[in-house]
Amino acid sequence: MEAERVLVIGVGRIGAVTAVGLAHLLHDVTGVDTNAGRVEELQAGRLREAEPGLRAALRSALRLRRLRFAQGVAPAGFDFAFLCVDTPPLPGGEPDLRQLFAAAEFAAQTVRTGGIVVTRSTVPPGTGDRLEAALRAAGRGDLSVVHVPEFLREGRAWEDFREPDRIVIGARDAARAERVARLFAGISAPVYCCDRVTAELAKYAANAFLATTVSFANEMADLAARLGADPEMLFETLRADRRIGREAYLGPGLGFGGHCLPKDTAALEYVAATQGLPLHQLRATIQVNRERVGRAVAWLEETLGGLDGRCIALLGLAFKPGTDDLRESRSLALAAELTLRGAEVRGYDPLVRAAAGVHCPGTLPAAIEGADALVVAHRTEWVRAIDPADAAKLMARHAVFDAPGGIDHRAWTAAGFVTNRCLRAPVAAADGADR
Ligand SMILES: NC(=O)c1ccc[n+]([C@@H]2O[C@H](COP(=O)([O-])OP(=O)(O)OC[C@H]3O[C@@H](n4cnc5c(N)ncnc54)[C@H](O)[C@@H]3O)[C@@H](O)[C@H]2O)c1
Repeated sequence: MEAERVLVIGVGRIGAVTAVGLAHLLHDVTGVDTNAGRVEELQAGRLREAEPGLRAALRSALRLRRLRFAQGVAPAGFDFAFLCVDTPPLPGGEPDLRQLFAAAEFAAQTVRTGGIVVTRSTVPPGTGDRLEAALRAAGRGDLSVVHVPEFLREGRAWEDFREPDRIVIGARDAARAERVARLFAGISAPVYCCDRVTAELAKYAANAFLATTVSFANEMADLAARLGADPEMLFETLRADRRIGREAYLGPGLGFGGHCLPKDTAALEYVAATQGLPLHQLRATIQVNRERVGRAVAWLEETLGGLDGRCIALLGLAFKPGTDDLRESRSLALAAELTLRGAEVRGYDPLVRAAAGVHCPGTLPAAIEGADALVVAHRTEWVRAIDPADAAKLMARHAVFDAPGGIDHRAWTAAGFVTNRCLRAPVAAADGADR
């Protein structure tokens, strides 16, 4: 495989993984970022985010001089530029593409004649055409834009870069797609080459589908609770269906958060609206998600007889377990709602040291001591390991709202806690007869 000179523009969460990954595929990679501190950190082999395996891979690529980070680079020195900047939502859901166009401008100065600009950021369908027009206007009609969406999961980013389920390459023609596919030749995964709009839509469709499963699961969990059914078993039976799958996002919780699902569902809804095609199902998915935090607040308010002056301990602060990313975390949305109603909110998460609006005393016992209620936001081992009898001794009142169904409700009930899991028997048949 031929080593290519690759420039990665924007080395945040996605760009850092891309840069390290391409260096491990034996390319000669330079990462640039407008954030000088980030460049300095990465060049020193330091990585803030909790991504198993990535720091070691970063350090070995730096040591082997296949990778470096800088703020400025020589003009026309690269065969490829990967744009990995953010595409955050504007208030109406429309993605803000200003960082992307600024990055493309930088690519226009730094990519050699006939080179390729790869968009790795999540972009609305049609963005590749707009970028090529901007490059033409900048006198770089020789450059072409290829879209290679990133599907990795935070917390498993390094694993997902090396072993993705698929690589999607959206290009104007097969020759350009093939050039980009060769960059990833060291990865064994199915490669789907398609037109650019299909690749751009593929990322939004994937995230809309995942978000829909989350909202579907939350509604099913609510119904199961009303009927006295066992949601654990319910979701287990669904995951066993090969048409659904073992890793499906099926399980109750505070809803989907993070940097991708909320912004990408909003963007897709916006894109569809610009086409005069409302996506009713997606709208419902978003609506169900919005209501999750309110349900938790209502339960706490009713159980504690009001929230003013109450102390709530929030277990799990990041947008999901296994990451330190707080962006669009539903836990933090809940914390904001509780604070608004006069409650004091303390938090604990082993991967998070500080979070806006939440007092983080640093240890689990300190977070729950004197609390009136616990909110379990993450389904994870350290939460399961809490002994309810120990928690009962530390707390002022004994209530626990378990959003993801991650604790043993019988044990907590036995320790004197009121929980949100209904432990009554299943509803009787309509005629009252045993069947
Ligand atoms: N986070 C995820 O799990 C994930 C997964 C798949 C796709 N994506 C997509 O990847 C994109 C990036 O997401 P992220 O989480 O890495 O964002 P991020 O904010 O962590 O990183 C973006 C980086 O780009 C830098 N930057 C901004 N403008 C620049 C410019 N003109 N030149 C150079 N650097 C510039 C910023 O300083 C920042 O370090 C988004 O479109 C996102 O939707 C994210």
